[in-house]
Amino acid sequence: DWTTGNVIDEQVARIRAQIGDGKVICALSGGVDSAVAAALVQRAVGDQLTCVFVDHGLLRSGEAEQVEQDFVAATGVKLKVVDAVERFQTALTGVSDPEEKRKIIGREFIRVFEDAAREVVEEAHESDGEDVKFLVQGTLYPDVVESGGGTGTANIKSHHNVGGLPDDLQFALVEPLRTLFKDEVRAVGAQLGLPEEIVQRQPFPGPGLAIRIVGEVTRERLDTLRQADAIVRSELTAAGLDREIWQCPVVLLADVRSVGVQGDGRTYGHPIVLRPVSSEDAMTADWTRVPHELLARISTRITNEVDGVNRVVLDVTSKPPGTIEWE
Ligand code: XMP
Repeated sequence: DWTTGNVIDEQVARIRAQIGDGKVICALSGGVDSAVAAALVQRAVGDQLTCVFVDHGLLRSGEAEQVEQDFVAATGVKLKVVDAVERFQTALTGVSDPEEKRKIIGREFIRVFEDAAREVVEEAHESDGEDVKFLVQGTLYPDVVESGGGTGTANIKSHHNVGGLPDDLQFALVEPLRTLFKDEVRAVGAQLGLPEEIVQRQPFPGPGLAIRIVGEVTRERLDTLRQADAIVRSELTAAGLDREIWQCPVVLLADVRSVGVQGDGRTYGHPIVLRPVSSEDAMTADWTRVPHELLARISTRITNEVDGVNRVVLDVTSKPPGTIEWE
């Protein structure tokens, strides 16, 4: 019968059988799936696992720290952090087209991960002559089903995951979440002692905040969006809406300005869009009827606390026709 404890025991046994005393590598994204997959493999083979976290500077406030500190503290995992903030910033300079952003981020991610993986392989080889033969992926059951034939909306925007590695970096895949649904993955993560902030995290796109800035991605705009997003997340959580809301992208319309008045001066600032959606699987979604009082509070806080933002608007479009993300 299905219990979280049974699933963990079974997967740990399978992972041990697959990996033996071999070495294994895993890319952490900050999301639930890669974190739980890595924690399971760590439970099974300990130090034979090395995790790689590429900090592309496009995560939300506090998320890089959750991987680098809290996840490591909870699991004892060996982690290699690559600071690629500058590199991604440079690659994105002058780019406002959504698909162009996605392609650049996917490409840079693969390159940075490849370099890091090569280092891990070399270090492993130098230490005891053992090669790294396995790569952990946080593939879930719905991903398996979807790639088995469904075309769906995944093709509308180019999604990025670790894939398409060069020949000298070929690994056998370890996919301990292949039979699980998202809520089961969260239960496994909780039982493995992962922090609540990681286990309960709502979906967040691989290209991160870059596709929530309509216009060119700059450091300053990322900072602005991070502040607004942190306010929205803390208010929705405080109001107990985390389960009702599937996710709530917060979008900065960096290419739009509107006139406002604040104190005794005229402002000419940017709008922030709130996109709270309810959904079962992200294929379709409806906009969540967030209480007006709470929207008012969020709006007041954002316009008071975030420099350069003088207007907050609510996206009331279902999917279809709107996608969940704006880009
Ligand atoms: P859309 O915007 O297509 O998003 O309605 C559907 C779901 O997918 C997430 N999303 C992504 N996830 N890499 C990901 O891992 C991506 O490139 C990506 N783009 C969108 C989005 O947040 C929503 O949950």
